[in-house]
Amino acid sequence: MSPAGAKRNLLSIVDLEHDLLALLQRSHEMKQARRRGDRSPTRPGTNLAMIFEKPSTRTRTSFEVAMNDLGGHALYLSPKDMQLGRGETIGDTARVLSQYVDAIVYRAFRHADEVALAAGASVPVINALDDREHPCQIVADLLTLYERWDGKFAGRKLAYVGDGNNVLNSLMLGAALVGLHLTSAIPSKYRPPADLVKQAELLAKASGGSIQFTERPLDAARGADALYTDVWVSMGDEAEKDARETAFQGYQINADLVAAAHPDVWVLHDLPAHRGMEITDEVMDGPRAAIWDQAQNRLHAQKAILELFLPPGRPG
Ligand code: CP
Repeated sequence: MSPAGAKRNLLSIVDLEHDLLALLQRSHEMKQARRRGDRSPTRPGTNLAMIFEKPSTRTRTSFEVAMNDLGGHALYLSPKDMQLGRGETIGDTARVLSQYVDAIVYRAFRHADEVALAAGASVPVINALDDREHPCQIVADLLTLYERWDGKFAGRKLAYVGDGNNVLNSLMLGAALVGLHLTSAIPSKYRPPADLVKQAELLAKASGGSIQFTERPLDAARGADALYTDVWVSMGDEAEKDARETAFQGYQINADLVAAAHPDVWVLHDLPAHRGMEITDEVMDGPRAAIWDQAQNRLHAQKAILELFLPPGRPG
């Protein structure tokens, strides 16, 4: 936990280290409540600025709907329409926005910019994806498994197949926090940064989980309780498209991989997917896919995250 009175940010999934299990339970409760028609308006009168340097379908929409549900208001800000796009500094932008809103959601190209915004802001900054991590995505992913496994992660095997990107970085750290055994099948050139692997290994040691790598997708998938993949070409990697599509041939979640996993395996993908590349239509639309509930869970996870980071509401 942060020292009393200190501002908290959510830049890495590890920033939720002491809250993660309670956050998953709260997300689940909010999902159940919403199904009964209770939208949990616990943060009335609060305001959220959302700066998106990159496109988004799920993250932007789920944060905006989450703020509506909580009784607050979200403002979508595109840098091309802000003075940020004309040279105003990130620090000055953070300082000004902090006087209007209660928290800032930021999807950035560069992690360094995420850190700069957080340093300049006097309100919490929440990472909505950068080139290092995608923590809010992983809260929704863990929620999807939490709900299917009755809240018990110990002893479960998760296999990731594909690119060692920002999603895997956060997945690795999140899996380590909750004690999962994660094996990632990745071409060696595309493995996550060594410092993050080291951090995940230390967290896994403390939680009873483990972090392993292989170059053989079938080895990772064998007996797995969950399979996870993501695109081979992330936003910002477009210049490497041809090389990546060659390097990742065979790193696909398909019927053979599902057959090698545990019979009750769940398949995850954070979306958007490139059908026929990292995952087949058959698996995406098949009975073991938890992908659509995973996407729905973005909303419930965002609500619990916002409730944690926003101040108590101010009824009008
Ligand atoms: N998974 C995810 O972050 O989706 P969007 O890019 O649509 O927000």
